[in-house]
Amino acid sequence: MTIQRVASKWAKTKILLKNKGLASYVPATRQYSLEALGDMLGTHTLVYIKPDRGTYGIGVVSVEQLHSQNADAETPTTSYKLRYEQKTEIFTSLESLDKTLSALFQGKEYLIQQGIHLLRHKDRPFDLRVLTQKSPSGQWVSTGIIGRVAAKNKIITNHHSGGVVHHYKPLMLEHMTAQEAENIRKELNTLGVNAAGQLQKSYPNLKEIGLDVAIDERWNIWILEVNTKPALFPFKKFFKDPSIYKQVKKYANAYGRDLSSKKKAKKTG
Ligand SMILES: Nc1ncnc2c1ncn2[C@@H]1O[C@H](COP(=O)(O)OP(=O)(O)O)[C@@H](O)[C@H]1O
Ligand SMILES: [Mg+2]
Repeated sequence: MTIQRVASKWAKTKILLKNKGLASYVPATRQYSLEALGDMLGTHTLVYIKPDRGTYGIGVVSVEQLHSQNADAETPTTSYKLRYEQKTEIFTSLESLDKTLSALFQGKEYLIQQGIHLLRHKDRPFDLRVLTQKSPSGQWVSTGIIGRVAAKNKIITNHHSGGVVHHYKPLMLEHMTAQEAENIRKELNTLGVNAAGQLQKSYPNLKEIGLDVAIDERWNIWILEVNTKPALFPFKKFFKDPSIYKQVKKYANAYGRDLSSKKKAKKTG
């Protein structure tokens, strides 16, 4: 039996939104169009735009709406700050922004998502990866959580873009007490299990998921995306506690994921 993988972020988002308990964790998301861009920027000052079937953070851009007062102090003007890779461009109309974006998209489908202001570590944003796996006895279990800190001046935390893996607890302790961090950890573990259960209704052969989770400045929890082929190697390399990776590996072996080639594992998102 093959392990189920699902590339489309839009397909996975629609499934999560069907579940009331999960929908509140999903940032507003639309399929990209000029109209959706206008609507989303009408509601959110920050949006992220990403390929529907992307990985490694490739092609992910952000747009921030800026307001400034004209010299006559009567008419505020709106401009749009586009960030991608390490570049920044300013646009004065949605149409010109859309034109540049459409050229970047190269005909591929893109999504537009409410941007989350991530918590920071040393002035760099970080998010979390929650790994949830099917246990040999058939239960969903969240087997590990790691933090991922963006490289300097980057808007994404992916390893392939220079993002660095950190332990969960010290990152969170920069913002809250140990008890609060533990409460959020529990909520994240449950979130992984519930998201896996919901996705499994549509994808019965699902065996593992990796949630990319953002914590915002008010400690709200947001699911940025669900990976159905999560990288396992960060859990090996990083944890001093070998029992964590031992369990990850035990479960992965039981459902038939090939862990023999490091190269292969590295190719996963
Ligand atoms: N809505 C968002 N708000 C804030 N940051 C985001 C948002 N969406 C994506 N990001 C950042 O971009 C990274 C890559 O986006 P993601 O949706 O995980 O796509 P990929 O499949 O390429 O990893 C995330 O890990 C996060 O750092
Ligand atoms: Mg991701």
